Amino acid sequence: MDSFSKNIAAIRQDYSLSSLDEKETGDNPVLFFAKWFKEAEHADCAEVNAMTLATVDAQNKPHARIVLLKGLEEQQFVFFTNYNSNKGMEIAANKRAALLFFWPELQRQVRVEGSITKVSPELSDEYFYSRPQGSQAGAIASAQSSKIASREELEHRVKELMESKTLSRPEHWGGYHLTPDTIEFWQGRSNRLHDRVLFEKDGTLWQKSRLAP
Ligand SMILES: Cc1cc2nc3c(=O)[nH]c(=O)nc-3n(C[C@H](O)[C@H](O)[C@H](O)COP(=O)(O)O)c2cc1C
Repeated sequence: MDSFSKNIAAIRQDYSLSSLDEKETGDNPVLFFAKWFKEAEHADCAEVNAMTLATVDAQNKPHARIVLLKGLEEQQFVFFTNYNSNKGMEIAANKRAALLFFWPELQRQVRVEGSITKVSPELSDEYFYSRPQGSQAGAIASAQSSKIASREELEHRVKELMESKTLSRPEHWGGYHLTPDTIEFWQGRSNRLHDRVLFEKDGTLWQKSRLAP
């Protein structure tokens, strides 16, 4: 091992802030997620609504990136993006996806798995027009994930759009929601004996189990 790797291997974090008993999670993991989310907000967790979104493409290659959670609507996790982006193409090929939240300040992780569909155009409009004009112009100007000649070209297009003052939501920009069928809550504990509580959807009911760390 070289010294860089040795330094990395020596990084250790002991977790002792809290614990998770399966009795305290209740029967609905989305409600319990909302409780943990509020606690993460109150603990001033950085980028509290940032989540890793993992998708799989038509060749079964996995891809992951951060997106922002923008709502929990009817027990579904909502985010917004460009439907023509790489992730949009991957979701069109395979609607199964995973979300991951990590709140280090609380030594907590939440893993969510399920199926993705587009939200209604009305919800996409509501969110698009609630954003600052610069963000609206950016969303219109950026053919997300495509190769571009230069940054200047993009900035020029945004400037033109801002001057035109007619910013409408493009059809290829909008929201998705993930309907969860698996949610796992992880609370860091001492000596790597972490608490893990898994919820799996069985029809309309959620089944709960404790997992080994
Ligand atoms: C903190 C953070 C928040 C982000 N939020 C979003 C978002 O809400 N929607 C989005 O499309 N991309 C967001 N991105 C950018 C994505 O990570 C990614 O670069 C982009 O969506 C293109 O991904 P794709 O090529 O896999 O489609 C965010 C990145 C970071 C670091």
